[in-house]
Amino acid sequence: MIVVIGATGNVGRELVQLLAEAGEEVVAVSRHPGAPVTSSKVRPVQGDVSAPETLVPHLRGAAGVFLLVPGGGMGLDARALRTVFEAAGVTRLVVLSSLAVGTRPSAPSHAPLRDLEAVFRASSLRCTFLRPGGFASNALAWVGSVRTERGIAAPFADVALPVVDPADIAAVAARVLLEEGHAGKVYELTGPVAISPRQQAAVISEALGAPLRFMEWSREEALAMMRRFMPEPVAEGTLDILGTPTDDERRISPDVERVLGRPANPFSAWVGRNVAAFR
Ligand SMILES: NC(=O)c1ccc[n+]([C@@H]2O[C@H](COP(=O)([O-])OP(=O)(O)OC[C@H]3O[C@@H](n4cnc5c(N)ncnc54)[C@H](OP(=O)(O)O)[C@@H]3O)[C@@H](O)[C@H]2O)c1
Repeated sequence: MIVVIGATGNVGRELVQLLAEAGEEVVAVSRHPGAPVTSSKVRPVQGDVSAPETLVPHLRGAAGVFLLVPGGGMGLDARALRTVFEAAGVTRLVVLSSLAVGTRPSAPSHAPLRDLEAVFRASSLRCTFLRPGGFASNALAWVGSVRTERGIAAPFADVALPVVDPADIAAVAARVLLEEGHAGKVYELTGPVAISPRQQAAVISEALGAPLRFMEWSREEALAMMRRFMPEPVAEGTLDILGTPTDDERRISPDVERVLGRPANPFSAWVGRNVAAFR
């Protein structure tokens, strides 16, 4: 049995489906559980990472755990989580971390995630850390304005980064949970090509068959919007990456292809599967 924490999210949903298709029993954890996929293999349950004791009943008999770290790890007690996983006899743990843990070693925005990685690296668990760059699914933030105004607003319109399809992250997580040989590894997960917000808007426009207006936001405008759904230091750190990426943040990582044996999905593949959301 495998426990997926964050099971109803962009990555979790895909992961639950892949594991169920592979014949695994899956316990699908989130705070507001719904059925991420309809399968007799999947049991949706309620649990909260920020209250590790709520996970205890769900971990009994778990061979592996996928851990989504909400809010950049701010306010999470990584040691208490480790204790709960170790006490349950979990052996294999996949942590959904972030590329910035490696590329921004002193950024306050990613300090909690850095510390969390260190806590688990020092544990008895066989850990694998997935460090993705920006997600293709961040484009879902544009759904409302595309639907109502046929427009997209974003900062740093022409700064291109290799956004990653959450389905690729899930596929890598599934391999790590189901196969031997990934313990102790850090996988940097990106898409196959760098793409700017303006170019992403053009891909969505083409998929819709409708023109979209593009408006470039200032950093301040973007910060005001992002603060509504993420802690301010995380928003600031994210804007640093989006506006002034380092060479390592622009780099196309080979890790998706190394693990999956096929190239990473381009942004257009994610749009192809999700275009209905923008209609
Ligand atoms: N977006 C990016 O560009 C990016 C880049 C690098 C890394 N990341 C990492 O990826 C994560 C986002 O992944 P995603 O897009 O799959 O997430 P998502 O679509 O926002 O979904 C989050 C999932 O986690 C659950 N969840 C949230 N808080 C929880 C809690 N306290 N306890 C248990 N479950 C909780 C949510 O369900 P409930 O709300 O019902 O609990 C949902 O199932 C971020 O947290 C970050 O760590 C993201």
